[in-house]
Amino acid sequence: MNFTTIAVIGAGQMGQGIAQVFATAGYKVILNDIDSAAIERGIATLKRSLAKLAEKDLLNESAELISGRIKGSTDFSALISAQLVVEAATENEQLKHKIFSQLDKICPPSTILATNTSSISITRLAASTERPEKVIGLHFMNPVPLMKLIEVIRGLQTDDQTYQGVLQLADKLNKIAVTSQDRPGFIVNRILMPMINEAIFTLYEGVASAEEIDQAMKLGAAHPMGPLALADLIGLDTCLSIMQVLYEGFSDSKYRPCPLLKQMVDAGYNGRKSGRGFFDYD
Ligand code: CAA
Repeated sequence: MNFTTIAVIGAGQMGQGIAQVFATAGYKVILNDIDSAAIERGIATLKRSLAKLAEKDLLNESAELISGRIKGSTDFSALISAQLVVEAATENEQLKHKIFSQLDKICPPSTILATNTSSISITRLAASTERPEKVIGLHFMNPVPLMKLIEVIRGLQTDDQTYQGVLQLADKLNKIAVTSQDRPGFIVNRILMPMINEAIFTLYEGVASAEEIDQAMKLGAAHPMGPLALADLIGLDTCLSIMQVLYEGFSDSKYRPCPLLKQMVDAGYNGRKSGRGFFDYD
């Protein structure tokens, strides 16, 4: 499959990271968001990331050449030139359905529609389009430029050509693809989120402080960062959405989101992006 232009929907922390890795691999990228300020912030952040990677001599080209391949746009009709669209909007199923049906109307029938959802059913999203065989899950990990994995999720309807096309693409991005069946949370979040949720319960029940919980998991289980700092990095609103998908998807109380997680989200303490989560970020 020959991709030259790739569109990314959503300029948040995942969308801008995804745009960065596609541009680094030589693709032209359209970074789309409804909010032009979000696009500007996203491009500024990815430029900082590229500058850091350039400092460490980890890029094959100049950071400027790479970021020059990314064009921001608030206009959905600009997506017509993309052979692949990767949706990385907020983790909200209704919103994703709306985006997918809009994309389906605008993009040529051959365009692959991928989603970076971390837990929502690909089969259901595919069913909201007239091209369910061209819909697939491409789940990147945060921080996207540093993490090697892409989870690839086939919906029940996804055809082999689409699947093989994205596997080849993952290779070009210098990432490792692991395929998951379309089940709530796929592989990574099915395992990671209950661990993070349990860390939040551990804090909620007063077993230890946030610092102690994270220190224990870093030194005792060799995690590169503690589960509460990781929750702050992912975003507490995203963690809560994923726990809700697991809870409802499996109808199993073992996935019950911790009340403290819900309260933090209600308070707007969404982690790094809001300046405050389990830790403070000034
Ligand atoms: N771009 C470029 N460089 C970056 C970067 C980025 N986006 N983010 C961090 N770095 C750099 C830092 O600047 C730092 O550089 P220096 O050494 O020159 O200062 C270097 O990477 C290391 O960073 P830190 O010193 O801050 O900390 P670290 O050594 O712990 O590494 C980490 C950071 C790579 C994030 C590491 O802690 C880690 O792997 N954490 C776990 C991340 C993880 O589990 N991600 C998956 C989350 S799950 C998910 O994403 C799926 C979902 O659906 C929710």
